[in-house]
Amino acid sequence: MTKEIEHVIEVEHLTKRYGALLAVNDLSFTVRRGEVFAFLGANGAGKTTTVEIIETIRTPTSGKVCLFGLDVTKKKREFIHRIGVLPQGFNSFDRITVRETLQYYARLFGCRNADLDGLIALADLKDKTHEQFHKLSGGLKQRLGIAVALVNDPEVVFLDEPTTGLDPHARREVWAVLLDLKNKGKTIFLTTHYMEEAEFLADRVAILSKGRIVALDSPGHLTESHANYLVLTLQAVEERASEIIRKMGFAPVQDNHRNIKVRLERADDVQKILNAIQASGATFRGLDVRKPNLEEVFLSLTGEAGREDHAGGWGAE
Ligand SMILES: Nc1ncnc2c1ncn2[C@@H]1O[C@H](COP(=O)(O)OP(=O)(O)OP(=O)(O)O)[C@@H](O)[C@H]1O
Ligand SMILES: [Mg+2]
Repeated sequence: MTKEIEHVIEVEHLTKRYGALLAVNDLSFTVRRGEVFAFLGANGAGKTTTVEIIETIRTPTSGKVCLFGLDVTKKKREFIHRIGVLPQGFNSFDRITVRETLQYYARLFGCRNADLDGLIALADLKDKTHEQFHKLSGGLKQRLGIAVALVNDPEVVFLDEPTTGLDPHARREVWAVLLDLKNKGKTIFLTTHYMEEAEFLADRVAILSKGRIVALDSPGHLTESHANYLVLTLQAVEERASEIIRKMGFAPVQDNHRNIKVRLERADDVQKILNAIQASGATFRGLDVRKPNLEEVFLSLTGEAGREDHAGGWGAE
């Protein structure tokens, strides 16, 4: 009983093969009740395959997956009404309105008592209640998709890339809905390409690369334990500064705005570099010293880039 309350999802040695392709390779992890758990991985890392096995849509090749303590390959009927799903690339019927869409799915899933107005309010769609699906923006469609995933008032919600393709503003509006859900006590299993999203929303993040979990922890612990260095950025710096820093034994990376980034193991290296630049008479407009972010951890652990439309990090390094 205690186990059920603490771990709503338990995955042990999960493997999935598609012919010769090993898409999911010996995954083991648990998801705790009430947490936001994120799978962060590049295209083809195995995110959808894993979540769809947990949702009972796909069958595992080997390994064990339990939802609420029940084996997903055996007891589907006993928990299927306790989960909600936003599939990757959610779509619906073009010509029916927001409210009708929710009504349709509520009937389809046999949820006679679904609180449609409550769902519309939660997804912040009150102004769009009578708008047809095809007229909604990408962000509004995704928010409706999240509301659809909640028609059965599930305990665990699976959201497969809820913000892919959305602009930064629309993405943040989806995040607000998800935070609200978390505060209502839902367990959220999220997959994403976006480092910022995992960093902002997730209590724990599993970094997935080529079907394997390469790290699993809170975003804070991940950066502390896998990227124990500082990033010094010098803005609009003179060309020769790069050479000075390189001669000191560091590896500066310059972008096309004349900003130089240097990865430093020790805090006092910052002062050493600044002294050397000052002594040379080279000028710069500003500087920034910060701890690494999740993107840098992701890159160093996987050697893969996140989404190409995500700016920042080490770029072409
Ligand atoms: N039904 C299938 N048949 C054969 N191969 C598949 C099938 N589904 C997925 N794959 C392959 O398995 C690997 C993992 O795919 P999956 O969709 O789980 O990754 P993902 O992390 O969700 O990727 P994305 O970010 O692109 O959605 C990929 O190489 C993919 O091409
Ligand atoms: Mg996917």
